[in-house]
Amino acid sequence: MKWREILIFSLCLICCSEQRSSPGSDSYVAAVLEYQFTRNTTQNLQNYIQYIQEAAEQDTDILVFPEMTLTRGEKINVPIHGLLKMFPVPALHPDLFDTILVELSGAARHNNIYVVVNLQEVMDCSKATEEYCPENKTYIFNTNVVFDRTGAIIDRYRKINLFGEYTRNAALKPELGLFETDFGVTFGHFICFDLMFQVPATQVIQKHNLTDIIFSTMWFSEMPFLTAIQIQEAYAYAMNVNFLAAGADNVNVTSKSPGPIYDDPEASKLHLNKDLRLPSEISRLLTPGHQEFVLIDRDVSCHFRVKINQLSPENNDTAPRFFAFVKDGSNTYVQRQIGVALCAVVACRNDSVASCPYRFAKNEMFTEFEELEIKMTTYPSQYNSSLSCDNTVYYPNSMRYNKFPLRSNDFIYEKSQNGRLASRGNKQDGANTKSKPREQILYKLMTPTKELISFGIWGRLYLRDIYAHKEITEEDLKNYVEIENVIYSNADLYKID
Ligand SMILES: *[C@@H]1O[C@H](CO)[C@@H](O)[C@H](O)[C@H]1NC(C)=O
Ligand SMILES: *[C@@H]1O[C@H](CO)[C@@H](O)[C@H](O)[C@H]1NC(C)=O
Ligand SMILES: *[C@@H]1O[C@H](CO)[C@@H](O)[C@H](O)[C@H]1NC(C)=O
Ligand SMILES: *[C@@H]1O[C@H](CO)[C@@H](O)[C@H](O)[C@H]1NC(C)=O
Ligand SMILES: *[C@@H]1O[C@H](CO)[C@@H](O)[C@H](O)[C@H]1NC(C)=O
Ligand SMILES: *[C@@H]1O[C@H](CO)[C@@H](O)[C@H](O)[C@H]1NC(C)=O
Ligand SMILES: *[C@@H]1O[C@H](CO)[C@@H](O)[C@H](O)[C@H]1NC(C)=O
Repeated sequence: MKWREILIFSLCLICCSEQRSSPGSDSYVAAVLEYQFTRNTTQNLQNYIQYIQEAAEQDTDILVFPEMTLTRGEKINVPIHGLLKMFPVPALHPDLFDTILVELSGAARHNNIYVVVNLQEVMDCSKATEEYCPENKTYIFNTNVVFDRTGAIIDRYRKINLFGEYTRNAALKPELGLFETDFGVTFGHFICFDLMFQVPATQVIQKHNLTDIIFSTMWFSEMPFLTAIQIQEAYAYAMNVNFLAAGADNVNVTSKSPGPIYDDPEASKLHLNKDLRLPSEISRLLTPGHQEFVLIDRDVSCHFRVKINQLSPENNDTAPRFFAFVKDGSNTYVQRQIGVALCAVVACRNDSVASCPYRFAKNEMFTEFEELEIKMTTYPSQYNSSLSCDNTVYYPNSMRYNKFPLRSNDFIYEKSQNGRLASRGNKQDGANTKSKPREQILYKLMTPTKELISFGIWGRLYLRDIYAHKEITEEDLKNYVEIENVIYSNADLYKID
């Protein structure tokens, strides 16, 4: 597997390399933008173009914009199998394409830079003869569009897994987003909720042996396992890829960007949803001192070895507590039932499991984990030959009080192979793993810490996924439009400097 070092920088920093990266380079320069959108598309477009120019001035090879921060009501035609085949550079044929594509194409071309944007796409099947159209009607998609350095549109990816979004259609076919660059890297890309699913999140990497992924998002964070930075870092680690995530910035919808640079670790305004099913899972309260025990749910067993030091006995009564959890089951998000297996330790408000999870503040760090080790015995990964990827993926999943995950040198994460433990990265042969009924995973803290909100092995069992495909009711639609109104209601308050 080829590894490249990427330099990611925020747009306010000055960087200093001197030329574009090439296939011979051992690094490339990427920028991801954490963007506070306005409701005015013309204004967003102007801002985007300014950011493209600023990124190019810092020798960026590729700039990634977040999800749904460009267009609001506007819908854009992206005829990648039609007009764009003959005229791939909208800037050179402004009369043939939507102004937004023309302007972005011009900015990419003028600044000699790759640009990935997300927008609302429209496809009118009564006109789009070259497109796949199951019905003669107008479809609306949540779409990534990729421009190369000449301003040509080289890829169009339609979101496969909508998060509600009842005003839009899911991709009509599960087509992956994939494009090559002139600096020798092939990128896979997908959008937000897609991260949770076998197609595309696991398939795009494993089917095409990718090392670099682009992710545009407006993530709705949920404690204790699915806050934005936490799950995105867990994915990058488990999949062994460079991960370029661009997040929309809106504290009111818990979608604060994953941006590793711009994010304010102390931000307390940020509202985080909670997994309300957690208290009903099988659990056990941890006590001060050393303890070792096993929790079992159906076919998943978790062996915990923990040593806790109570740092401030005088705050004994009010100090956050910790519970260990096991789960072998499913969770449901916006009508999608997904298979989940986990072993984890989670912070709680008090010694009632109903108070889990709890994000404690810096001045409540009264508990130190001197030792924390979880051994999970679970379903083995199993290669899916028709999709060319695994049916099961496990993630080392952690979150600290500042909502960042543990640094990778603060833990070890190992999976069993033929009875012994082997580090991640060793490619497993499908045939070998298939014959083994059980897999063992070790997740162990290497540095004592008092910052943990959650620490666990969080697994996705894709074969258990159920998509009910219910009819969308008027009420679903109304509720969704209301959510969008909340998301965008304060957007006009934002001003760009
Ligand atoms: C949208 O932004 C553009 C560019 O700043 C401005 O000219 C226009 O008046 C704005 N439109 C509205 C409705 O505010
Ligand atoms: C699709 O519908 C339009 C009217 O909306 C009609 O003009 C056209 O002939 C239809 N196309 C097909 C292939 O049925
Ligand atoms: C990915 O790598 C595997 C093993 O190294 C190889 O067999 C396969 O052909 C590669 N696939 C692609 C699409 O490059
Ligand atoms: C409270 O503090 C005392 C003294 O350090 C300790 O023995 C006891 O286990 C603590 N209780 C809890 C629930 O932390
Ligand atoms: C535990 O904390 C919750 C709030 O998260 C509170 O509602 C509950 O009353 C507390 N229980 C105890 C036993 O203190
Ligand atoms: C591959 O995955 C699909 C979708 O999850 C599933 O329907 C199919 O049974 C799987 N095939 C194998 C061989 O695991
Ligand atoms: C969040 O919502 C509150 C209440 O509606 C509003 O006052 C505040 O400006 C919003 N903040 C942002 C960043 O949109």
